[in-house]
Amino acid sequence: MEQYVIKGGSPLYGEVVIGGAKNAALAILAAAIMTDETVTIDNLPNVRDINVLLHAIEEIGAHVERVNPHKVKINGSFIQDVIVDNEFIRKIRASYYLIGALLGKYKRAEVALPGGCDIGSRPIDLHMKGFRAMGATVDISHGLFKVSAEQLKGTHIYLDKVSVGATINIMMAAAMAEGKTVIENAAKEPHVVDVANFLNSMGANIRGAGTDVIRIVGVEKLHKTEYSIIPDQIEAGTFMFAVAATGGDVLVKNVIPKHLEATTAKLIEVGCQVEEFDDAVRVVSNGKLQHTQVTTLPYPGFPTDMQPQMAVLLGIASGTSTVTESIFENRFKYVDELTRMGAEIKVESNIAIITGVPKYTGARVNAPDLRAGAALVIAGLAADGITVVDDIYYVERGYEALEEKLTSLGAKIEKVDNEKDLQKFVLKVS
Ligand code: EPZ
Repeated sequence: MEQYVIKGGSPLYGEVVIGGAKNAALAILAAAIMTDETVTIDNLPNVRDINVLLHAIEEIGAHVERVNPHKVKINGSFIQDVIVDNEFIRKIRASYYLIGALLGKYKRAEVALPGGCDIGSRPIDLHMKGFRAMGATVDISHGLFKVSAEQLKGTHIYLDKVSVGATINIMMAAAMAEGKTVIENAAKEPHVVDVANFLNSMGANIRGAGTDVIRIVGVEKLHKTEYSIIPDQIEAGTFMFAVAATGGDVLVKNVIPKHLEATTAKLIEVGCQVEEFDDAVRVVSNGKLQHTQVTTLPYPGFPTDMQPQMAVLLGIASGTSTVTESIFENRFKYVDELTRMGAEIKVESNIAIITGVPKYTGARVNAPDLRAGAALVIAGLAADGITVVDDIYYVERGYEALEEKLTSLGAKIEKVDNEKDLQKFVLKVS
């Protein structure tokens, strides 16, 4: 089993280039099968969840040509099957985007129920509500989400809770429904806008993405396009927080600074300097951090996907901080691991109360999910001594070449898969 082994204490200096947004790419790949013409998608992150989804798209008959690790051509004209089920697709959350895409195009889909990171109960009632409102029959049986419609009709849908997944899924189906669909209380995340832009580049008629109300007029056919995915704001934020924790001076390139506003604001509050450029941000930190309060909220609020990384920063900030998680109830599973590294954190309901300690101490820890795994890597980079992060399978779902990018900034981190290599690394850095 692969692990990261980290010798903490090296400040980070240099430049790092951020890849395409995983959560935009997953939806865009699914949407790419909605036309029978060839779609070219660039700036694709080369991470595990993307590869699982591409494999599933190939399994139902679409042609997938990997031009290079970050560019793919997809042709959906060869699809013979609307049933998507294999042991891998059951493990990723974004499998649900194939429901909206297939329903829009073929008016029928059967997709294995989504898995994904265990960060709390992850209902799909809002997706079902949306599809039903458009006239589809929705049924869940034998682990499959089955949906079909004689006619998919545009309608008014109010989302009771802001949901990225439901907004995108309904938007995809509505792009090829008859008439006008209005999604109210829609998610405003940058990747919602990116998926809308992608669909529009294929000939869809979607207006208002990025606001509370999205209006979609269905079209009969979508056509070919060439599209480049937006930069990953969470990967960027993770590197920005790593610099904050270790100290240093790093230029984070290929980002959209506007998408990072909440992250940047919190970095400034804890005492870092952040300079914004057109498509880059520079983070300067002396490693001395101050306490603050943070609450996760839908965009433009502070992202839940940055919550564990934020808690790691606050764990070594002066004074007492609080982190309130308002999106997923089970996103504090890293707290026990961090405690083993010397953190003082008490969780009460959805609030973590954090009393800053001067330093973490290296320990052997498990990554409980994707972002928490990345957060433990940051803790390891800032810690005294050696940290081993197990279960990095989760981290590789969403971060491409994390250890290589960190190494290029001066971090001492290696991916190993046996005890001998682990000990070799320890000897090398000691
Ligand atoms: C997406 O998950 C992301 N996943 C998550 O990224 C991210 O944490 C989350 O959005 C919030 O930004 C992908 O894009 C693949 P939601 P999603 O629907 O779509 C409730 C990462 O680390 N809800 O916006 O599943 C839900 O329980 C991951 O990259 C319902 O009640 O999230 C939650 O409280 C993990 N009913 C809230 O809405 C529904 O039908 C927001 O969930 C759907 C959601």
